[in-house]
Amino acid sequence: MMAEEGVAGGSRSAGRGPAFLVPDQLERSRLRRRMLVGNWKMNQPADVSEYLQQISSRAATLSSISVAIAPPATLLAQISRSRDILAAGQDCHKSASGPFTGAVSAALLRHAGASLVLIGHSERRAEGDTDQTVRSKLERAWAAGLTPILCVGETMADVQRGLVGSRVAAQVLAGVPEDEPSAPLIVAYEPVWAIGTGRTPTQEEVGAAAAAIRQALRKRISIRAEQTTILYGGSVTPTSVLALCGVSDIDGFLVGSASLSASDIVSIMEAIAS
Ligand code: PGA
Repeated sequence: MMAEEGVAGGSRSAGRGPAFLVPDQLERSRLRRRMLVGNWKMNQPADVSEYLQQISSRAATLSSISVAIAPPATLLAQISRSRDILAAGQDCHKSASGPFTGAVSAALLRHAGASLVLIGHSERRAEGDTDQTVRSKLERAWAAGLTPILCVGETMADVQRGLVGSRVAAQVLAGVPEDEPSAPLIVAYEPVWAIGTGRTPTQEEVGAAAAAIRQALRKRISIRAEQTTILYGGSVTPTSVLALCGVSDIDGFLVGSASLSASDIVSIMEAIAS
């Protein structure tokens, strides 16, 4: 693995191997930080500057939560210049560099100002990312000093066969290597059947999946599993978030379509912070 230098706004975590760049907001409390990550996918709000101004001024008053936006890579630099908003990549390539037209490496994301990156989103898995690809990308993220947000989640067929816990646990065990005890990690539980559908699991279902994720994390990263932030994602809106805020193992949310609206994001931020 290679370690890279030179991105402002973060601090180095201790440990062997490459030096990881942990965003200051996350470093202040490595303990299960409350968090909201907006995933714009291949979209952007009509007026990006106005959007950023609205959410960063509210984020500045809600210091108990970290707010990140994962825009298309073309907008990362603009997001990273925003006060109180972290920039996240939506994906990175499994290779460090090379002849991969159209792809973006973890190191390039970091150079563009990202401090986090989504890894293994179900829309990337649907395009061919295997568990092995996901693990390679996660290692590339760490090598570049980014905090990976590992996305896991079951299909409706898994739900019908009673395989939710075993599916998400298997994805965690496949995606997280055993040999990086000091590397920062966030996990997002995103049921595939809830993404973009307007359907959400119950509190009990989310709690059971999050518990299975944390149990799998214990096998990989031992004691730090208790301190790992776990997000929920899938049709989160200012309304649906209210029921899901009460799940004890869930520390925040990964929000897709609602994140294109500044007022929806501000409402969700306020729900998480309250
Ligand atoms: P959604 O997307 O909020 O539009 O369901 C969530 C995601 O894909 O991360």
